[in-house]
Amino acid sequence: MDRFTDKVVLVTGAGSGLGLATARILSREGARIACVDVNGESAERVAAELGATEGRAIALTTDVTDRTACREAVASTVTEFGKLDVLCNIAGIGRFQHTLDVDADDWQQIIDVNLTGTFLMCQAALPQLLETRGAIVNTASIAGLRGQAYAAAYCASKGGVVLLTKALAIEYSTRGVRVNAVAPGGINTPLIPAGFIPPEDADPQLILRASAPTHSMAEPEQVAHTVVFLASCDASYVNGAVLVVDDCVLH
Ligand SMILES: NC(=O)c1ccc[n+]([C@@H]2O[C@H](COP(=O)([O-])OP(=O)(O)OC[C@H]3O[C@@H](n4cnc5c(N)ncnc54)[C@H](O)[C@@H]3O)[C@@H](O)[C@H]2O)c1
Repeated sequence: MDRFTDKVVLVTGAGSGLGLATARILSREGARIACVDVNGESAERVAAELGATEGRAIALTTDVTDRTACREAVASTVTEFGKLDVLCNIAGIGRFQHTLDVDADDWQQIIDVNLTGTFLMCQAALPQLLETRGAIVNTASIAGLRGQAYAAAYCASKGGVVLLTKALAIEYSTRGVRVNAVAPGGINTPLIPAGFIPPEDADPQLILRASAPTHSMAEPEQVAHTVVFLASCDASYVNGAVLVVDDCVLH
């Protein structure tokens, strides 16, 4: 299946985890990829793997919290490939913390990357996507749908992504740009050991409450296929959707 032949896709968070898996599948399906990540080394490594030397990928070191950098990332993509068809907003951060331990910087950093960063990339990309009648896929989380203990900022940021997605989907519905999101459960990526370590005195019952007893972690590819579906022509009649990607049946 080559649903992305002649398509240009910008993937944020392409250096790791879900973004990396998504960039790989899109590339296999024919897309040229702008690999955007705040970690320039990983963006370079992924772009090299996806064919930078043959003109099939570029690496862009971009912090999605920086409005100017987001605009430059879109401009560089269009300079390199001539257009932009799809934006996949996958960059994100998170951590477990007691609410009473969250200081202003902890709160702001998570909101800035997950919610404001998603908005800034959408705003930067929309003029190009209006030209190509393209698509946006954002990354929410089940934590943004039903909440999770010890993760107030993360849940608030992902809940914001859910309604940002729906707001843009309505606003651009008559102008040919689709805007959807995935809401994954737990994915086996570096995000979990890096950030989602429960506080020492956390109540394990409260953490388990977010999932069913049968719950298991997804491999990144299992979620990436849904991102790619929403980005593709197969989802041409899907707009404003937030697709849960999780084997937990409690939603
Ligand atoms: N892993 C999970 O269990 C899980 C569950 C639900 C949703 N998600 C969401 O999936 C997305 C991807 O997470 P992941 O699990 O692959 O994590 P990851 O840590 O493996 O990858 C995240 C990537 O985003 C990049 N990034 C972080 N801050 C950035 C910034 N300011 N600008 C640009 N890039 C930045 C990182 O360098 C990294 O390459 C995130 O939005 C996350 O919230 C993850």
